[in-house]
Amino acid sequence: MSFDVSALRAQFPILAREIDGKPLVYLDNAATTQKPQCVIDALVDYYSTCNSNVHRGAHRLADEATSRYEGARDTLAAFINARQREEVIWTSGTTEAINIVAHGLGLQLQPGDEVVVTEMEHHANIVTWQQACKAGGAKLKVAPIFDTGELDLAAFKSLLGPRTKLVAFPHVSNSLGTVNPIEDMTRAAKAVGAWVLVDGAQGIAHGGVDVQAIGCDFYAFSGHKMFGPTGIGVLWGRAELLAEWPVWQTGGEMISEVTYQDAKWNTLPYRLEAGTPNIAGAIGFGAAVSWFASLDLQALQAHEQKVLAYAHARAADCEGLQIVGTAPNKAGVLSFLMAGGHPADVGFLLDRQGVAIRTGHHCAEPLMNRLGVPGTARASFSIYTDTADIDALFTALEKVKTLLA
Ligand code: ALA
Repeated sequence: MSFDVSALRAQFPILAREIDGKPLVYLDNAATTQKPQCVIDALVDYYSTCNSNVHRGAHRLADEATSRYEGARDTLAAFINARQREEVIWTSGTTEAINIVAHGLGLQLQPGDEVVVTEMEHHANIVTWQQACKAGGAKLKVAPIFDTGELDLAAFKSLLGPRTKLVAFPHVSNSLGTVNPIEDMTRAAKAVGAWVLVDGAQGIAHGGVDVQAIGCDFYAFSGHKMFGPTGIGVLWGRAELLAEWPVWQTGGEMISEVTYQDAKWNTLPYRLEAGTPNIAGAIGFGAAVSWFASLDLQALQAHEQKVLAYAHARAADCEGLQIVGTAPNKAGVLSFLMAGGHPADVGFLLDRQGVAIRTGHHCAEPLMNRLGVPGTARASFSIYTDTADIDALFTALEKVKTLLA
């Protein structure tokens, strides 16, 4: 199967947009990816033909909606190689998925217990553990990184021990693009008997994910960062843990029996899915994953690496630009600083030229403090990003420099 980036781009209607008469150059994919027409169609078709609540109805629309909704769960389970479809829990996104685990674990944490994270976490994978540790009197330990943004793996391993209850780390850093050696990290954590949660928000769309091969206990990710809708995500977790840990929210769907005095919980996955779910979101996410899985994932990764290498080469030739994040194993993220320009000004001036990036601390304030930067300008790539987008970014940056001078 070959990888034709022009044909791929043609499937994303928004990429034909102009901003003030200039072609849109969309380089904010770590914040959210754009949606192919087939995902938009899946959403419209659900609402146009079978909008209904799931599991509850005694009518045709409810049957059709339930079948599409549960079919999407099957698609997701197959894509990540879950052992059972019941291990795929729909959530509103990565943040909620992490919170479900933190809630379950938090109720079990005690003084003397330890949770280990890394210096490169997104806030969702720090604040949740910080609060769970505070509530249980446990200790949060933070594994250091090198100045390049690469994890200090030896230091990480040295933090693990018999007190370590859970280890949480990102598959890919959202602000620097660092790809972590998650199998190795998981093995080390499992060797001391800890549970492992991988924040897969940025990792899921960069090739295949096989949760059984990783060996972790939980893998959390969002639909909107892999071509699906916002407001939908997945917590994958080992069934034996998810079936036993304290429930997250209570209400309809998650029960099997209710009296005024008590209630019994439903089986997986429903025990962790209280209330009417995001039906359209799940269907749209299923469509996104089916579409993504039909691509040549190896060719796609090679393309992403080619674009990243090209961006790094152009950055090296751009006077006044400093790359933040140069780990040897990186996904398509170019975080940078421009001499004489605050990242926010750089972002504003790029937007005036049709180039969309993100600026600021990227929900990773402790990491920015660790690196001694106020924030960065971040261009982040996706499978439809081409070298022409990178050329457009650097042409626009030359103009930014003259405006800042
Ligand atoms: N976590 C998203 C980002 O990195 C929003 O931009």
